[in-house]
Amino acid sequence: MKNNKIIIANWKMKLSLAESLDLARAVKEKFKDFSGGQVAVCPNFISLKEVGDILKGSPVKLGAQNVFWEESGAYTGEISPRQILEAGCSYVIIGHSERRKYLNVNYEMIHKTIKTVLSFPDLVPVVCVGENWDERKTDRRDYVLFDQVQQALSGLNIPGEQKIIIAYEPIWAIGSGTAIEPAEAEYAHKIIRITLNDMFGLKVVSNNFSVIYGGSINSHNVKGFTGLEDIQGLLVGGAGLDAEEFFQVAKSVASGKEED
Ligand code: 13P
Repeated sequence: MKNNKIIIANWKMKLSLAESLDLARAVKEKFKDFSGGQVAVCPNFISLKEVGDILKGSPVKLGAQNVFWEESGAYTGEISPRQILEAGCSYVIIGHSERRKYLNVNYEMIHKTIKTVLSFPDLVPVVCVGENWDERKTDRRDYVLFDQVQQALSGLNIPGEQKIIIAYEPIWAIGSGTAIEPAEAEYAHKIIRITLNDMFGLKVVSNNFSVIYGGSINSHNVKGFTGLEDIQGLLVGGAGLDAEEFFQVAKSVASGKEED
């Protein structure tokens, strides 16, 4: 059976231009014969074009960490879907919790952005959802996920071939060094999937949507997340900043087991 898992690295604001280019070269080399799923890296904006040039001819695709909801105009400091496509992007992260936390990005903005991105068939949105610690502790996680997915996507028309990735990233696990229990992630993925099924129907959800997990995944804990039907891939932060570590994570996901 063809492995269609998705492994995306979010480099956040952690690397200089020179470091991004070095990492892109190392990732390209590591993944040169990789065929175990879809792989992408998301560098900062100033590195996008050059990283994209390095990755040409590689199975590793390019993604952006953010995009604006208008197609062009007087929006100082923003970047449009067409501009990231010009840089070579195939994916774009939308509504990462760090942007929700530090920049007051909300689900109304996320909704508008997804709507615009859906009019660009060559760009796959990676829509982030996930509860914070307080919401989880007080048993509000299921409702929070339901509500975030609803706000992000309700009323949107999903074009026939358009792929949409939902990244479940529990905020309290991001950067903590400890991923959540795989069974808990799997349960959260089910909630997301049931919500999507209610909104778009089973057929659209199975053709167009993938749900992936993010939050402190590394080559040691990844084995718990592989081979689970509801977890269709991973969005990694720290583990994506080292080519060998990223490769080990991707290999584990691709093979459905941990590599020794
Ligand atoms: P970490 O893997 O470093 O926890 O980051 C996850 C993340 O935020 C990916 O978008």
